[in-house]
Amino acid sequence: MGLATARAFTESGAAVTLADVDDDALNAATDRLREAGHQVLAVHCDVSDEDQVAAAVRATVEEFGRLDFAYNNAGIQSPTVDAADEPAEAFDRVIGINLRGVWACMKHELAQMRTQGSGAIVNCSSLGGLVGLPGRAAYHAAKHGVIGLTRSADWAPPRKWPPPCCGCAAPARASSSAWPCPSTAATPPADRPPRQGDAHV
Ligand SMILES: NC(=O)c1ccc[n+]([C@@H]2O[C@H](COP(=O)([O-])OP(=O)(O)OC[C@H]3O[C@@H](n4cnc5c(N)ncnc54)[C@H](O)[C@@H]3O)[C@@H](O)[C@H]2O)c1
Repeated sequence: MGLATARAFTESGAAVTLADVDDDALNAATDRLREAGHQVLAVHCDVSDEDQVAAAVRATVEEFGRLDFAYNNAGIQSPTVDAADEPAEAFDRVIGINLRGVWACMKHELAQMRTQGSGAIVNCSSLGGLVGLPGRAAYHAAKHGVIGLTRSADWAPPRKWPPPCCGCAAPARASSSAWPCPSTAATPPADRPPRQGDAHV
């Protein structure tokens, strides 16, 4: 879903930063988009490490001059396990990537967008952010948290700058057309499509 989003942005004329912890997938995706003539920066980034997230945003701004849109997609599934048996390490890993990772991304993206005075962010939650299922406590807790983070996105009271446009995608099975993909938006959707020269991470 992250790559599909990046592709859609590049095809709309945006310069894009791909940030991923998987270097092979990152390099393959970067090569494909560049071969198609798109402007792409690749950054190795583990979203559970705030310093790496900060560096990815910094690299984007150094390369493209600004950050107009961000899609925070990185996520992992948790192994199915009864909540009574879940090891703390497994819980911490899922929360570290799926929730703390989104927090770190939003934090550094918002800081840049506050400097610019504009920007838009979409965080990837899940149908699992709206309901609970047995055996998936960590995943559902994290995805519920992503919606809470998104709803709190116009941080900075009293408002000294126009809040960014923040939305939250709540996909069900991405591969199934039988499921609708509802989304909840904490603030109104972006008022314009991406433009040539926009930077997107
Ligand atoms: N596929 C679905 O049916 C579905 C349904 C609901 C929600 N989602 C959510 O959509 C998002 C994307 O899912 P997908 O199915 O495309 O998964 P995917 O595994 O194809 O893509 C996830 C990407 O995140 C990257 N990633 C994993 N850990 C990372 C980390 N620590 N730092 C940086 N990158 C990391 C992976 O390398 C991968 O490229 C996830 O947040 C997922 O929870 C997916």
